[in-house]
Amino acid sequence: MRTVTKDTLTQAFLDYIGDDTDPRTRFVLESLVRHLHDFATETMLTHEEWRKGLELLMKAGEISSPHRNEFVLFSDVLGLSSLVDMLHSEPDSTPSSVLGPFHILGAPTLPVGGNMKADNDGAAIIVSGIVKSTDGTPISGAEIEIWQTADNGLYSNMDPDQEDYNLRAHMVVGDDGRYAFTTVRPAPYIVPDDGPVGELLDATGRQPWRPSHLHFIITAPGHRTLVTEVFPSDDPYLDQDAVFGVREKLVMEYIEQTDLNNIPNGIADSDKIQAPYFTVDFDFVLGAE
Ligand code: BEZ
Ligand code: FE
Repeated sequence: MRTVTKDTLTQAFLDYIGDDTDPRTRFVLESLVRHLHDFATETMLTHEEWRKGLELLMKAGEISSPHRNEFVLFSDVLGLSSLVDMLHSEPDSTPSSVLGPFHILGAPTLPVGGNMKADNDGAAIIVSGIVKSTDGTPISGAEIEIWQTADNGLYSNMDPDQEDYNLRAHMVVGDDGRYAFTTVRPAPYIVPDDGPVGELLDATGRQPWRPSHLHFIITAPGHRTLVTEVFPSDDPYLDQDAVFGVREKLVMEYIEQTDLNNIPNGIADSDKIQAPYFTVDFDFVLGAE
């Protein structure tokens, strides 16, 4: 290997890969390294730029913790997370969208129609719909995880003033596939921008805002797990999401209601809902496994 040159280096790397390497690992790694070498060649990457890139990765490692993963955030703001989602989405199912770093396991179970808003400030929204298969059949027993920000744009695990599981719930739908809950209108918020991802956004004149959204993970036997989020159609950041999570099919209408008689049947604590409130109707379609 004494004669390696810039023209033979990529092949030299490929020749190093052992014969027993798992074929998919070989395929992905070969492609990654080819693109990496082509990238450096195409940009005539300087030592200074290369060092700057490594410094950003080091800072990402330093700021990451069990509660914060800066590498995932890099993947999100570079559009990689959304691209991977899109590559594997099926046209007949509800599109998936970024998981984000704020989901926590163990949210309390809320019955269908339950009140997740509790004492949270902000306008009430009643969200309901059907979880169904691509042929339209309701999926009995589908399980839903829901999480969102409070009116101040913070998730419970970012805000010492919120209870651990505030605005988080787990729900199991019945035979009709119907889910429903009352909550508070979530607020837009900024992705963590006090680390290297913030530096990147700053250096490229980008803003860190995400449009408001509700997060969902839906699981059901025989179906592909759906990790997604839904966005209100009137959010000011809908067309400039810092992490590219918005899809046309994930935009929902908040319908303003001034008549308390329009509260759907089976909504808990309906006497606590004040007008105006909003209703949102959104169905989830899960692909077969
Ligand atoms: C979120 O929606 O919670 C989120 C997604 C990506 C990056 C930061 C936050
Ligand atoms: Fe979020």
